[in-house]
Amino acid sequence: MPQLVRRPPQQPPHDAVARLLVHVPRGQQHLRRPALPPRDRRGERVSAAQPPLVSVVTGAAGGLGTAIVEQLLDRGDLVVAVDTSEGALDALVQRTGFGPDRLLALEADVASAADWQRVREAAVAEFGAPTVLVNNAGISPKHDGAKLLGVDIPLEEWNAVLDVNLTGPFLGIQELATGMAEAGFGRIVNMASLAARSGGLVAGVHYAATKTGLLGVTRSFARELAPSGITVNAVAPGRIDSGMAGMVSDQVNADYAARIPAGRLGTAEDIARTVRFLSDRDAGFITGATIDVNGGSHMQ
Ligand SMILES: NC(=O)c1ccc[n+]([C@@H]2O[C@H](COP(=O)([O-])OP(=O)(O)OC[C@H]3O[C@@H](n4cnc5c(N)ncnc54)[C@H](O)[C@@H]3O)[C@@H](O)[C@H]2O)c1
Repeated sequence: MPQLVRRPPQQPPHDAVARLLVHVPRGQQHLRRPALPPRDRRGERVSAAQPPLVSVVTGAAGGLGTAIVEQLLDRGDLVVAVDTSEGALDALVQRTGFGPDRLLALEADVASAADWQRVREAAVAEFGAPTVLVNNAGISPKHDGAKLLGVDIPLEEWNAVLDVNLTGPFLGIQELATGMAEAGFGRIVNMASLAARSGGLVAGVHYAATKTGLLGVTRSFARELAPSGITVNAVAPGRIDSGMAGMVSDQVNADYAARIPAGRLGTAEDIARTVRFLSDRDAGFITGATIDVNGGSHMQ
């Protein structure tokens, strides 16, 4: 079994950190406080026995990402929220009410290796090396509320979906796995989709291809990283009444719900609670798994 190359903890030079797009909404700078010990949203102290997990969540400002960030903050994690949308990050910070001692919002593109390096450097500088990575960012292009048929997808759109949905998680794992291996502990959760199980119904061929590929990424990294104490799992949501599901009409979602055995769309919290479970310290014997969260749309 090849061992990960261990490298000493990275302490970024000040100018590297300064170049980061650390997003602190105006008027919230005063919220900066010493990092530890954390308190949950109710103001209660989080377990003193274990240091808080340092969790990086991508696509953090979207529908599912917001719910995931809230779940991880509620657990007591120090959370690095990564997204390309400055405005949405701003709204996320406002919504949670946490300051940068618990929630660091970073504008970064998951398809960029350079951005991933900056994310790691900022996380290490602010909170310490990340021990949890939630690869949640994803795109599913629509045209007038509908997917393009596979034969009509332009190469540019194909490549854009691969860059975000597949290369993004790959780069994130590459960047953060070494630090997790040095800690002898890590939890990686990749956001797949029901489209990986049964082909894209509402989403295009490129989307289904990336989500299916992500299951291969999950299993292969799970094998390679298990000896280092790192688990790698996937969550495959069915239709969720949040985020990108809003890109199509209510009728499309209602028709979809009618076909789900549970009789409803999922909620962002259904997914976020699953991510919380898989990324918990206690979930150390689950790796390479795909957890279907779809109300019975797909069973195996
Ligand atoms: N909502 C659903 O029904 C559903 C179902 C199955 C799977 N998923 C998956 O769940 C994940 C989250 O979906 P959502 O519904 O919350 O979508 P969303 O569009 O609400 O959120 C996605 C977020 O990712 C961000 N993002 C896009 N490109 C990025 C990039 N290059 N770098 C960093 N951030 C980027 C966006 O700004 C956005 O905030 C996606 O991977 C999606 O494929 C969603």
